[in-house]
Amino acid sequence: MHNVRKVTDDLYWVGASDRRLALFENIHPLPEGVSYNAYVLMDEKTVLVDTADWSVGKQFIENVEYVLNGKPLDVLVVNHLEPDHAATLGEILLRYPDVTVITTAKGKAFAEQFGYEIKNADIVKNGDSRSFGAHEFTFVAAPMVHWPEVMVSFDSTNGVLFSADAFGSFKALDGKLFDDEVDYARDWIDEARRYYANIVGKYGKNVTALLKKAAPLDIKMICPLHGLIWRSGIDYVVDKHQKWASYTPEEQGVVIAYASMYGDTENAADILAVKLAEAGVKNVKVYDVSKTDRSYVIADMFKYSHFVLASVTYNLGIFPTMHDLLSDMKALNVSNRTAAIIENGTWAVKSGTLMQAELESMKDIALLDEKVSLLSSVKEDGEAALCALADAIAASINA
Ligand code: FEO
Repeated sequence: MHNVRKVTDDLYWVGASDRRLALFENIHPLPEGVSYNAYVLMDEKTVLVDTADWSVGKQFIENVEYVLNGKPLDVLVVNHLEPDHAATLGEILLRYPDVTVITTAKGKAFAEQFGYEIKNADIVKNGDSRSFGAHEFTFVAAPMVHWPEVMVSFDSTNGVLFSADAFGSFKALDGKLFDDEVDYARDWIDEARRYYANIVGKYGKNVTALLKKAAPLDIKMICPLHGLIWRSGIDYVVDKHQKWASYTPEEQGVVIAYASMYGDTENAADILAVKLAEAGVKNVKVYDVSKTDRSYVIADMFKYSHFVLASVTYNLGIFPTMHDLLSDMKALNVSNRTAAIIENGTWAVKSGTLMQAELESMKDIALLDEKVSLLSSVKEDGEAALCALADAIAASINA
């Protein structure tokens, strides 16, 4: 059975939610699911904006056919070719062989790479427009948000921006579709940040460029490919994206990420957290990087101003789960943060020097001098060093 929602008088959401998928891109956990959004515009021409993941393909096709109500599909706009959206492109081409596919030159090339033969391609460049009757779309190139072929489509008739991956989020929709149907700051922002940081976090410059291009447009509604449609809190979500894209912390606070084998490095992390609380620092998050998926730690690094990495030495190196976190931090361009290091080991303590080298290879990471070096466990001198580190962090937060 179809399951669609009306977005405007002649625009329909034809997507679906997936709560079964364990890992987005086969790497990021999805405890609350994800939605794949697509839209049908019923103008003089019928227009489908993007397709959907194969996992929701049956529901998506049923939705499209219901809205078309026997009419042929005239136009398919493909803003993004990644298979979480374009996996059903081939199905649409089979069912509507005369459809004209509007996409970028790279979009067409990627479609062919994935095995889709587009007979009627209408290749558009940045700034090109197409009229479908009452509605006119202008296409805006958005390379690397999140792939190089990406464009966004702006309906200048009613101010609807089809934003591809931009302004998206993890999380199934659970019947809701618009930002004003939920308590976004309570129920959605953490999954939106985790999506942003881990999916497009690396491409802050490109997101900033898209935000600049979009600034002069009279945007009334943002329709992304994942998550809720924005119609009430557009300023709120643009502000969040400006901060994330420029690597500006949302709040002063400290993420303590530790890698511990037998609990002694964990003990140091917990002591530091207590001393930070006693020093008046309100936002402190402590993560065991062997337990918590890295995507959550990275998301909080995008949120807060400071982080502390605490790692035991392992095979004369950084503990593997901490090494993985550092690798993701570098790949996702975590920058413009104040950081500190706690190292531990029973002999040949190396993790601190190695973590420092990793952090020095990242952009705009201000490393505090108060490095804490432990031999096996925290003793009085270690506690004093953790106290000094907490004071230094508190001072830099209050500066
Ligand atoms: Fe949601 Fe880059 O695909």
